[in-house]
Amino acid sequence: MPKKHTLFGEKRFKRISSRGVFTRPKLMLAGRLKGKIVKQYHGLVASQERARLTRLIDSYQKKLAQIGITVLPTEIKFGISLKNGKSQLKLIQPLVPEKAILLNYLKTCNGNEALLALEKTLEALDKIKKFNSKGETKIGIDATLSNLAIINGKITLIDIYPAFLKNAEEITTNEILDRVGQRSARILKFILPKNAYTFAEKRINQRLNAQYMQKRITLKFQKLRPELKPEFIKIMNKWLEN
Ligand SMILES: Nc1ncnc2c1ncn2[C@@H]1O[C@H](COP(=O)(O)OP(=O)(O)O)[C@@H](O)[C@H]1O
Ligand SMILES: [Mg+2]
Repeated sequence: MPKKHTLFGEKRFKRISSRGVFTRPKLMLAGRLKGKIVKQYHGLVASQERARLTRLIDSYQKKLAQIGITVLPTEIKFGISLKNGKSQLKLIQPLVPEKAILLNYLKTCNGNEALLALEKTLEALDKIKKFNSKGETKIGIDATLSNLAIINGKITLIDIYPAFLKNAEEITTNEILDRVGQRSARILKFILPKNAYTFAEKRINQRLNAQYMQKRITLKFQKLRPELKPEFIKIMNKWLEN
């Protein structure tokens, strides 16, 4: 990759996406993390909250692995302390090829591959459904086409923050509201707090509802590959009845 130069010297990173709701991932071009993806999250975090966030994201990853959902290896880090010892949450990941992200994959793969991708996605959500029906702990994934990738033939979750977990470690509505990237969304918390909390709670509950997510993602598959709609619906119905 050719080095790009800015007014201040060699460019140290390249933004690989500006679409994210919570973060705009960067590919590091220099330094210790060269070649890695860094996802920085809005808001300064004090030490107690740092410990809680670390536990939450950590247990989320472990729980997902436990129930058989493949997650992109993700390292939790906090930036250097800024104001009053507070710092920013960062997640470090390997780079996923653009073509592997479901949103792009579905645009070019053949029909059978698209059907198999839906099958695997709904199967992963089914594992969540089974897990959630058993005990106190509830888990969810934000199963969207841009949060999932096909890596070595496996459906892999690449977006693990916010960590949708209700347990001893638990996601909070504030997390949704404070770390969302768009300023307009954060401002909503101050001007219309009731609406903001209702919105965040609804969002969390939808992500924890695997059946809802199964229907939602099937619709997204249909939108990208309308010619496969009847087959997609067949697969969805099979998993919904499961
Ligand atoms: N490890 C990665 N490698 C390559 N691209 C990635 C990686 N992680 C995320 N992306 C790209 O960046 C986008 C936003 O990242 P994501 O973690 O989903 O953030 P958000 O929480 O804001 O949705 C993804 O939809 C994907 O296109
Ligand atoms: Mg995402």
